[in-house]
Amino acid sequence: MVAARQRFLQAGHYQPVAEAISRYIVAWAEKQPLDAESFSCLDAGCGEGYYLRQLVSRVPVDLALIGLDISKWAVMAAARQDNKHSPFSRWVVGSNAHLPVQQAALDGVLCMFGFPVYREFARVLKSGGVLLQVEAGPQHLRELREVIYPQLKPERSAALEAPEGFAYLGEETLSYPIKLEGQETIADLLAMTPHLYRASAEGRARAAALDQLALTVDVRLIQWERS
Ligand SMILES: C[S@@+](CC[C@H](N)C(=O)[O-])C[C@H]1O[C@@H](n2cnc3c(N)ncnc32)[C@H](O)[C@@H]1O
Repeated sequence: MVAARQRFLQAGHYQPVAEAISRYIVAWAEKQPLDAESFSCLDAGCGEGYYLRQLVSRVPVDLALIGLDISKWAVMAAARQDNKHSPFSRWVVGSNAHLPVQQAALDGVLCMFGFPVYREFARVLKSGGVLLQVEAGPQHLRELREVIYPQLKPERSAALEAPEGFAYLGEETLSYPIKLEGQETIADLLAMTPHLYRASAEGRARAAALDQLALTVDVRLIQWERS
């Protein structure tokens, strides 16, 4: 799964998501006091580190970064690719449920397609710190889901309730088309989603038979402020 995600992300299919995240970090860092040394940020469930690497190459501010994931394989893949990037990066095997970070230590937390534990995110963020949550929108990869499932589930409600310790700052929807060519690329996408386990053998076989697939990427970027 780690290797599949690495190949898929490196092909640039989610680059607009990485660009959006970098924009948020720059905007947050600009609001910091002038004497702040750097912008400290944890990627909770960082996978193989694609978004933090993109951040370092795009953001013209001093960053102190921690990538954390429960998968040892993901963290090893992230650390291996980091040699020429930020000297401040730390790659940690751990759980969002027990972050190895002191309380009120961080300016930002990213949780992208991950498993948020708001109580922990609230504990490690400074007052006024920001949580950026990226999650699949209702149209995300709809065309793939139409292939693998006999029927699509009804769309989820867009209503959001602020988790305890956070105030809602706003959100953005990012939606764009991509086209995947080749069975390997389509298999990589399927392998990096929960659909690999949820789909039936017949559904997976229908996806495996495709040579190309036009898809919608539809993600929500939700900002919460530590109150
Ligand atoms: C769908 S992947 C997203 C990875 C990465 N954020 C990205 O978008 O490329 C979800 C990640 O969350 C990690 N994960 C699952 N449970 C976790 C937990 N309790 N704490 C930290 N990471 C977790 C998985 O190992 C996986 O790498």
